[in-house]
Amino acid sequence: MPPAQLIVTERRLRLGVMASGSGSNFEALVEACQTGRLGAEVELLIVNNPNAGALKRAERLGIQSQLLDHRLYGSRQELDQALVTRFQAAQVDLVVMAGWMRIVTETLIQAYPERLINIHPSLLPSFRGAKAIRQALEAGVKLTGCTAHLVELEVDTGPVLVQAAVPVLPGDSEASLSERIHRQEHRILPLAVQLAAERIGLLDQG
Ligand code: GRF
Repeated sequence: MPPAQLIVTERRLRLGVMASGSGSNFEALVEACQTGRLGAEVELLIVNNPNAGALKRAERLGIQSQLLDHRLYGSRQELDQALVTRFQAAQVDLVVMAGWMRIVTETLIQAYPERLINIHPSLLPSFRGAKAIRQALEAGVKLTGCTAHLVELEVDTGPVLVQAAVPVLPGDSEASLSERIHRQEHRILPLAVQLAAERIGLLDQG
């Protein structure tokens, strides 16, 4: 499927969001749009599991959502093709993986070249993978954080858009550190969307 055309426009960016969990980053994006901090609108949320808290948030926030249960697809590519079809129908310009706990394939990446953003709870390239916060605690680092980056095929790689550092405090648990990292994620994710849009000419700069 060919990628969407580059467009230079003053209209609001149309965003698609993918989430598997609680959806606090999804909500932070919606809030940034609704308060005008980000000149965008979240058009569609897709979750891959029926228990994702993000679904309830979407209902409360009045954002359209769809469930694509990954267990009903024969391969990662088929799930990704279903995502692409839904996002293209919603005419989204950029797609944000806001806690998407599935490995994505070229099917999705090639449909949104330089337009697919991931948020990860570490200072990449340190601590890639699903247990980044635990790994940081186990390694004993004094500083960790979060990274918003463009998505490439290898998990948790790709050009960095924005990072925020978060100190690891004495006595930190996974929960306490995760809470402080989340606060920074909510701050940098809208900024990353803005930067991703600017670098490919989707937003007027200045
Ligand atoms: C975030 O920590 C994000 O970095 C990771 O998954 C978590 C999602 O949290 N990829 P939430 O569902 O947005 O609260």
